[in-house]
Amino acid sequence: EKIKVFAPATVANVGPGFDVLGLAIDGIGDELEVIKIDNGIKINPISGFEDLPVDPKKNVIGVAIQALLDETKLSNGFEINVKKRVMPGSGLGSSASSSAAAVFAVNELLGQPYSRQELVKFAMEGERCASGKAHADNVTPALLGGFTIVRSYTPLDVVNVPYPKDLHVVVVHPQIEVKTSDSKRILKKDVSLETAISQWGNVAGLIAGLATENYELIGRSLEDYIVEPIRSVLIPGYDGAKKLAMENGALGCSISGSGPSIFALTKGKATAEKIGTAFTNYYSSLEIDHKVYLSAIN
Ligand code: HSE
Repeated sequence: EKIKVFAPATVANVGPGFDVLGLAIDGIGDELEVIKIDNGIKINPISGFEDLPVDPKKNVIGVAIQALLDETKLSNGFEINVKKRVMPGSGLGSSASSSAAAVFAVNELLGQPYSRQELVKFAMEGERCASGKAHADNVTPALLGGFTIVRSYTPLDVVNVPYPKDLHVVVVHPQIEVKTSDSKRILKKDVSLETAISQWGNVAGLIAGLATENYELIGRSLEDYIVEPIRSVLIPGYDGAKKLAMENGALGCSISGSGPSIFALTKGKATAEKIGTAFTNYYSSLEIDHKVYLSAIN
C-alpha cells in the first residue's frame, strides 16, 4: 500500500499574528511518497535534501510519524520517498510542509483514525525537532489549507478563517539562511500593555477584514509592532523591499515566518506580479540571490 501526497509551503505570523496566524501558498510544497512496510521508518531523499539528516529520529518526517504511531500504539513501519521543494531556512515552512505531508499520508494509510485538525499536534513534533519549539502556525495551514488561526495551544484549538478569493500573496526569498531557533532567541520575552493593545487591535482587524472581504481593513491591520522591528535587522534589504511593496500597491508587507523571506498581500494577481518584478529588480541591484513566488491562497 502506498500514497503520494503534497503539502504546501506556508507563511506564518502574517504580520501581527506571531505563532498564531498562517496561510497556505498555492503550488509550492514538499511531495512525499509513503509506503506501508512491516516496521521501522526509512527516509529516502529523492531531491532537494542537501544537508538534512535521514535518521528518522533527527528528521522532522520521522519524528512526526513516530509521534502519531506512539499515540495509536501501532507498530507499522513506513518508507518515505521525499522530494523537498521548500528550501530549509527560508521562512516558508519547510519543516512544516514535510511534517504535515508525512502525518497526512500515514493517517490515510492507517484508514484515517484522525481528522486533519487532530493531525496538527503530531506535525508540531516535527517543528519541535526542527526549531526547538512546537509552534503550530505553519503546520496548521499546511494541513488545513487556506488561512488559519491557532486559537489556543493548550488545549490545541485550530480553525480556518474565511478570506476573499482575490487575495494574493507575493514572496521574495533573499537566499541567506536564518535559523528559526536563532530568530526566536533574539525576541524579547516581555511586551508592554500599550504595545499589546496595538497588536491585538491589528490581529482582530485583520481577521475581521478577511472575513468581511474588506481589503482596506486587511491593509490597515498588517503591521506587527512586536516581532518585525527586532527580526527585520537580520534580513538584508528589508526596509527597501517593504517600501517598494507598499509603493506598488501592496495591502501590507512583513516577514514570512522567522524570515528571511518577505511577503506582501495584494488584492488581485496583477498587483502581486508588479511587486514580484519590483522585488526581483531590487534584489538583483543589491546582488543578492533571491527567488520570488506568486500565489493565490489555497
Ligand atoms: N511563528 C514562528 C516564528 C514561525 O515566527 O518563529 C516559524 O516559521
